[in-house]
Parts: sequence; C-alpha cells; structure tokens
Amino acid sequence: MIRHQITGWINPEEYAALYELALEHQPVLEVGCYAGLSTSALAQAGEVTTIDANPQPNFLTNMMVAGVAQNVTLRVGWSRDILPKLTGPYGMVFIDGGHSYVEAFTDIEWAVKLLADDGVIVVDDITWPDVKRAIEELLPGWQPLVGKMGVWHASAG
Ligand SMILES: C[S@@+](CC[C@H](N)C(=O)[O-])C[C@H]1O[C@@H](n2cnc3c(N)ncnc32)[C@H](O)[C@@H]1O
Repeated sequence: MIRHQITGWINPEEYAALYELALEHQPVLEVGCYAGLSTSALAQAGEVTTIDANPQPNFLTNMMVAGVAQNVTLRVGWSRDILPKLTGPYGMVFIDGGHSYVEAFTDIEWAVKLLADDGVIVVDDITWPDVKRAIEELLPGWQPLVGKMGVWHASAG
C-alpha cells in the first residue's frame, strides 16, 4: 500500500486503517472524496463508489496517477440525493462529507440501510460535536478507530 501525495486531511495511520478495513470489507462506499486522498487508500484495496457534491477538479487525474481509477466510481451530487438511489449492500461505508448534524445524521442513517450484515461504518471527524452527536445517536457501541475516526461493526450493533 502506497500513501499517495494527494491533498487531504487523513494522516498516515488513518490512511493505513482505511486500507486495512477495506481489504476485509468489500465493496466500499465513500461519502466525501474531495481530491481523493482517502479514496486512493480505499481503492488500493478494491472497489469504491464515492459521492461528492463538489469533488476537486483534479480528482479523476489523481485517481489515474495513483493507478486506481479502474476501481473508482464517482457519483457527483448531494449525498441526501444519491444515497437513496444506491442499492448496496456495501461491506464498508466511509463517511467524510458534510459535518453538520443533519448531514452526518442523514449519511449515517443511509449507511446503516446500505450496509452488509457483517459490514463496517467508519466516520471521520468524530471530534466535531455535531458529527459525534450523530454517531452516538445512530451507532451505539461505536469505538474509536485511529486518530479522529470512529468505527462501528454491524455484527455488534
Ligand atoms: C473533508 S472533505 C473529504 C476529504 C476526503 N475524504 C479525504 O480525506 O481526502 C469533504 C468533502 O465532502 C463534500 N461534501 C460536503 N457535504 C456534502 C454532502 N452533503 N453531500 C456530498 N458531498 C458533500 C465536499 O464537497 C468535500 O469534497
């Protein structure tokens, strides 16, 4: 696994944790790709569908340079509009989109619906009060993963 030089907010330990979890839980759904740093970790492990209302213009180029473009499907739009159109199930959902309470709550609520029975949900930025409130309300038993990420296993829910 290579940590690609893409602009983002995922530290090396978080990057490795995303990759390791994605190896075990396929396919992956991501909410919020920005320029593709986290996507590049997930896509080195397999198939990723990623949703972003405003992906960075260099996202697809970054995926090609990283050698993972064939594993990535980008859905451009608001997660509240795209998530209801997906069928799943997904082995892993990584949530790093809107950080308001309503956005985090909506994304987590849909992640649970779209998740495989043995799937995992990873939520970034649980240090944000609104994000933490949403994860605590919807994912009882969630655990810290690494850095600012929390993880929830469907099997424990
Ligand atoms: C923190 S950045 C994602 C960073 C990326 N996961 C990484 O670590 O490299 C958040 C992204 O979510 C997108 N976003 C924010 N709210 C959204 C929403 N409600 N639906 C879809 N995308 C959203 C933004 O356009 C932005 O690109």
